[in-house]
Amino acid sequence: MIARGKGLGYRRGMTLCLRTDDDGIANAARLLGQGRLVAFPTETVYGLGADATDSAAVAGIFAAKGRPAFNPLIAHVADLAAARREGVFEPLALSLAETFWPGPLTLVVPIADTGEVCDLARAGLASVGLRVPSHPVARALLGRFGRPVAAPSANRSGHVSPTLAAHVLADLDGAIDAVLDAGAAEVGLESTIVACVDGNAYWLRPGAITRNDIESVIGRPVLDVAAGTDENAPPSPGRLASHYAPATPVRLNATRISPGEAVLAFGPDLPEGAGLASVVQNLSPSANLTEAATHLYIYLRNLDKLQASAIAVAPIPDKGLGEAINDRLKRAAAPKSLCN
Ligand code: TXA
Ligand code: MG
Repeated sequence: MIARGKGLGYRRGMTLCLRTDDDGIANAARLLGQGRLVAFPTETVYGLGADATDSAAVAGIFAAKGRPAFNPLIAHVADLAAARREGVFEPLALSLAETFWPGPLTLVVPIADTGEVCDLARAGLASVGLRVPSHPVARALLGRFGRPVAAPSANRSGHVSPTLAAHVLADLDGAIDAVLDAGAAEVGLESTIVACVDGNAYWLRPGAITRNDIESVIGRPVLDVAAGTDENAPPSPGRLASHYAPATPVRLNATRISPGEAVLAFGPDLPEGAGLASVVQNLSPSANLTEAATHLYIYLRNLDKLQASAIAVAPIPDKGLGEAINDRLKRAAAPKSLCN
């Protein structure tokens, strides 16, 4: 059912689809102020937003997604000044923020005395994950709302992250109040997450900003957090093995295809036997990792609809953005357990 109203866009199911003009942004900010849930575009993926200072609103995010409450949310803010009201920025964190914000980097830092992000959004941790997105609609919304917006990816827990408003609605129509529709997310993969604690930088999640990008700014290695090996390392509750998962089994590093499989190819050379596959989608025929990142979630969703025996994924180089793509693919292929 579709209903229209002045300045409101239209209603599909129970969720309002807002235009991204001034009226739409003003409506989205008003809804956030009333403790409602509003999905919005960022340059990485669509986020499911709520007022990060309002624990009842934040509880709504966990309920709508079916997300375990031990997994903290990223607080999105309009600029570095707003971030510094929420978190303590040591020199390392400050240099990363100054270099990469606005953009696809989340910094996990100790909470500041002036911080207002509620306990539930931080899952009770003494740190907060902060990000200043670069997407113009996200920036307009954050500027207008004036408070931090807690936002995980706008999918049901464990599903593939949404890069289109239609993906948000496929998972959450009727469970959230509104979505701002700005077309396709540019990067297509979630932000890189780095924790800055006690003068060290820890690698929590690969993303569009590569390890090299980070290390070239801080002038030292960013440390890996292997469970139990470093007692000073920050907790990383989001590093669950199964995540970003389609329902069809995913087979990695496929160099040979079996009949009945759907193929997710990469580069000019297709895996042997690809001619027997039900469907082949190529992440990037020219082997361009940036292009591959943009296509990853859309193609996984497409191939998941075919009821193939498996999605066979061609090998993808582990350099640069390839680290983030392979990280998401490994989780898509892992046995399904707890997810976010
Ligand atoms: O690109 C993105 O990061 C998107 C857009 C919407 O900003 N958001 C996103 O959120 O991917 P989500 O909730 O799907 O993933 C956030 C990750 C989780 O794995 C969570 O555990 C981690 O960030 N995180 C958040 N706060 C943290 C903290 N204080 N300490 C450690 N990890 C934290
Ligand atoms: Mg997510």
